[in-house]
Amino acid sequence: NIAEQCTIVIFGATGDLTHRKLVPAIYNIAADGELPHGTRIVGFARRDKSDEQFRQELAEMNAKVSRQGHSDTLWDSYAENIHYHQSTFTDLDGYKSLAKRLDELEDAAGGPCNRLFYLASAPEFFDDILENLKEAGLNQARGDKWSRVIVEKPFGKDLATAKHLNEVVNATFEEKDTYRIDHYLGKETAQNIMVLRFANAIFEPLWNNQFIDHVQITCSEDLGMEGGRGGYYDTAGALRDMVQNHLLQLLSLVAMEPPVDLSADGVRDAKVNVLRSLRPMPTAEDVAANVVRGQYTAGSINGNSVPGYREEDRVNPQSMTEAYVALRLHIDNWRWEGVPFFVRVGKRLPKKSTEISIHFKKAPNVLFNRDNTSGRENVLVIRIQPDEGHSLRMVSKIPGATTRMESVKMDFRYATSFGKASPEAYERLLLDAMAGDATLFARRDEVENAWKFIDQIEHAWHQSDNPPPMAEFEAGSWGPAEADALLAEGGRTWRRL
Ligand code: BG6
Repeated sequence: NIAEQCTIVIFGATGDLTHRKLVPAIYNIAADGELPHGTRIVGFARRDKSDEQFRQELAEMNAKVSRQGHSDTLWDSYAENIHYHQSTFTDLDGYKSLAKRLDELEDAAGGPCNRLFYLASAPEFFDDILENLKEAGLNQARGDKWSRVIVEKPFGKDLATAKHLNEVVNATFEEKDTYRIDHYLGKETAQNIMVLRFANAIFEPLWNNQFIDHVQITCSEDLGMEGGRGGYYDTAGALRDMVQNHLLQLLSLVAMEPPVDLSADGVRDAKVNVLRSLRPMPTAEDVAANVVRGQYTAGSINGNSVPGYREEDRVNPQSMTEAYVALRLHIDNWRWEGVPFFVRVGKRLPKKSTEISIHFKKAPNVLFNRDNTSGRENVLVIRIQPDEGHSLRMVSKIPGATTRMESVKMDFRYATSFGKASPEAYERLLLDAMAGDATLFARRDEVENAWKFIDQIEHAWHQSDNPPPMAEFEAGSWGPAEADALLAEGGRTWRRL
């Protein structure tokens, strides 16, 4: 599929996402020579500003963050196609004048053009934006010119709100024109999970409960609530912010059956089956036994003192929102019967790192493995970020007259094998939406099945008579001791990152 020329209208144009991610992503695509000629951006936001002011602000940020390095010459030719449209999200007239402005811009450049509407505003405006787009007729295809929508996260805050949003979205745009963003799916390393599994012959025969002992997925961040983020985060928490979307997506890619083909629905059918097979946790006792939630207390990261979660800017001092969560999940199907999946995610952990590790069962306890077998398991690690790559641990003989053994590592690093930095997630996702390829976007049933699972846990935490406790851990440590206890059965431990 080839990206097609279009007008990209960004709602929430003065926000962080637009400045830090979206506009630099489009700039990088242009620098790679892949941006279809005539693509233009129209920023839509409440504040009053001119095209020129808007371009200037974007240029300053682009110079700071661009993967390609900022070139004034390229920027200037790119910036000519950036415009600003001032309106509140709730004012229908603002959308009518947007429609007029788009027609004018497109007519001046030779006629009607495809349109991609990007919902990057605060989520409470998504309904208004969608309804107003419809009222102003902007949701309609015109002849062979399509009209599509990209919806940013969070996609609802529970199953009921996600269903409602899906209804509003699908009353405005057809499902085939709807692109629900999960930026983890745009990461090269996440896309490579399917290639690793299904383009190599050696892994898939082992990829099941006969050979795999357990799987771990870790997503750690050293950042806390900088930049006012506490306001949103404290209403969400780690489970909604990261697990419902990014981590369940990674889990689906690791655990899914081979898809029937690589079409968007082929891949998404296979992923949704994993979500549907997650063993439910219907009671607060199930949740207490399999999920640990935690908050950090004051501590230090890289030598800097940092406050505890409840002392963070814009966080309620009595907050019961988790900044860390660890889960033991089971996928009730033939392939994974008896294989636990351990997932953990949190803020203010020692470093930023996302990785998946596949822990194979140990070799039979004969011949070489009679003595201590600890540290002798084969582990395949998929490093999602940073230092993207894969490694495989195996046991090797230490050179010498006696047979002594040690665990060694075979390592593949993107940086060494492929040189240049991979495109950023948003670059790939924008190009895919412009090309009409929804494979790397979440389908309606994926989002709803993920929420259905997450809701049980949220319910046990916030609405049951017997809520599981909130664990504590020191900022800069690897999370609460209770999370270690989740694995302890069977002598398992979290991988040291
Ligand atoms: C976002 C979350 O979706 O993902 C943030 O809202 C988190 O809380 C971010 O920091 C992490 O993304 P990445 O690409 O930096 O791992």
